[in-house]
Amino acid sequence: MSDATRRARVAVLGSTGSIGRQALDVIESHPDRFEVVCLAAGRDVATLDEQIARLKPRLTSTAADGPAALVDMATDEGVDMVVVGTSGVVSLRPVIAALETGKVVATANKETLVAGGHLVMPLARRLADRATTPAEHMPLNWLRPIDSEHSAIWQCLAGERRSDVARLILTASGGPFRETTADQLANVTPADALAHPTWRMGSKITIDSATLMNKALEVIEARWLYDVADDQIDVVVHPQSIVHSLVEFTDGSLKAQLGLPDMRIPIQYALTYPTRLPSPAPRLGGAQIPDLHFEPVDDARFPALSIGREAGRQGPRASAALIAADDVAVDRFLNGSISFNGIAELCGDAVARFGANEVEAPDLDELIALDADVRAWAETAEPVQTSRGGNA
Ligand SMILES: NC(=O)c1ccc[n+]([C@@H]2O[C@H](COP(=O)([O-])OP(=O)(O)OC[C@H]3O[C@@H](n4cnc5c(N)ncnc54)[C@H](OP(=O)(O)O)[C@@H]3O)[C@@H](O)[C@H]2O)c1
Repeated sequence: MSDATRRARVAVLGSTGSIGRQALDVIESHPDRFEVVCLAAGRDVATLDEQIARLKPRLTSTAADGPAALVDMATDEGVDMVVVGTSGVVSLRPVIAALETGKVVATANKETLVAGGHLVMPLARRLADRATTPAEHMPLNWLRPIDSEHSAIWQCLAGERRSDVARLILTASGGPFRETTADQLANVTPADALAHPTWRMGSKITIDSATLMNKALEVIEARWLYDVADDQIDVVVHPQSIVHSLVEFTDGSLKAQLGLPDMRIPIQYALTYPTRLPSPAPRLGGAQIPDLHFEPVDDARFPALSIGREAGRQGPRASAALIAADDVAVDRFLNGSISFNGIAELCGDAVARFGANEVEAPDLDELIALDADVRAWAETAEPVQTSRGGNA
C-alpha cells in the first residue's frame, strides 16, 4: 500500500474519557482512513479492556504504567497521529515528545496550551517551517485543536491571511447558572453545577463551564494557537451552543462556524484536516436553526473569567498555577469541601502566590514541579475572597 493510501495510525491517550470515547467513535466510522494502534487509559480498566477487545491495538497502558508509557506511544515509529484526550498535565511530556519526533498531535487537553503553550508552539512552528505542502506549512497542521471553540476559529481562518484578523470572539454557553443570582450561587450544589444545559462532557470541564473558568482557559489557549493578544479576544454568552465561535476581520466582516453541540465534529476535523468527511454526528438542518441569542458575560457573578485572563496576561507560570489550582478546587467542590464560589477564590489566590514576579518562562521540569506544588497547597488552602482585576 502506498503512503497516500495507507491508513493513518493513531494513538489515543485518555481513550476511556469523554473525548477519548468520541474520538474512537469517529475513528471507527472511517475504517478505511484510520487505524487505532495505541490506547492509553487512566484507571478505568474495564472500559479499556472492552476497547482492546474491539480494536486490538498494538500497545496499551494505564496510569499504573507511569508517564513514560505515554511518551513511548507518542514517539513510537508505528504512530502517525496522537489524539490527546487525557485530563491534567500528564500529557504535556508526550505531546512535546510527539512533536519533536514529527508526529501530528490533535489535542483537547487544556494543560497542553495553558501551561505549556510556550513549549509546544515553537515545536509546531518548527515542523511547519520545514514542511513542503501548503497545509503542512501551518503550525496548526501539527498541533491541531479539538476544543469546539478553537476548531471553529481554525475553520473560520481557512483561506484567510492572519494579518486580516481583527478579533476572535469565543462563545460560552453560560452554563447552568446563567440566570442564577449572586446570592443563589453561594449555595449551588455539585449536582446543580453538573447539569450542563447543552454539552455532555467529563465532570471537570462541566464544572469549569459553570464557573466560566473553561472560557478563561480557552482565551489563554487561543492566544497561543492564533498568536493574538488578550485584548483581541472577546467572550460572549450564547446559550444555544450552535455558534461555536467567530472571527472578525479588519473590514468588519464576521465569520462563524455553526453546528449542533457534538464534539465528534471538531474531533473529526482535527483528524481529517485539511479534508472533510461525512460525520457520525447528527446534523443541524437549516430550518432547525433556533433563534440565536448573545449576551455579555456578567463578571461580578463569574469572576473566574477575569481571574483566568489576568493569569494568561501574567505568563506561563501564572497560567500553570491557575490550571493546577482549578483542577484541585473542582475536585474539592465536588466532594463538598469548598463552595462553588470558592473555586474562583482558590484559583485567584494560587495565581497571586505562585505566578507573581514571573521572570523566565518555566521549562518542562519546572512546570511539572510547579503543578505538584500548587496541587499540594490547594488541597488544604482555605478559599479567600481577593480583589479581582481584568477586563473580561
Ligand atoms: N469532554 C469534552 O467535551 C471536552 C471538550 C473540550 C475540551 N476538553 C478537554 O479534554 C480533556 C479531557 O476531557 P474529558 O471531558 O474527556 O475528561 P474525562 O472524561 O475525565 O477523561 C479523561 C481521560 O484521561 C484519562 N487519564 C487520566 N489520567 C491519566 C493518566 N495518568 N494516564 C493516562 N490517561 C489518564 C482518563 O482515564 P480513566 O477514565 O481510565 O481514569 C480518561 O480517559 C480535558 O483537558 C478537557 O478540558 C473536553
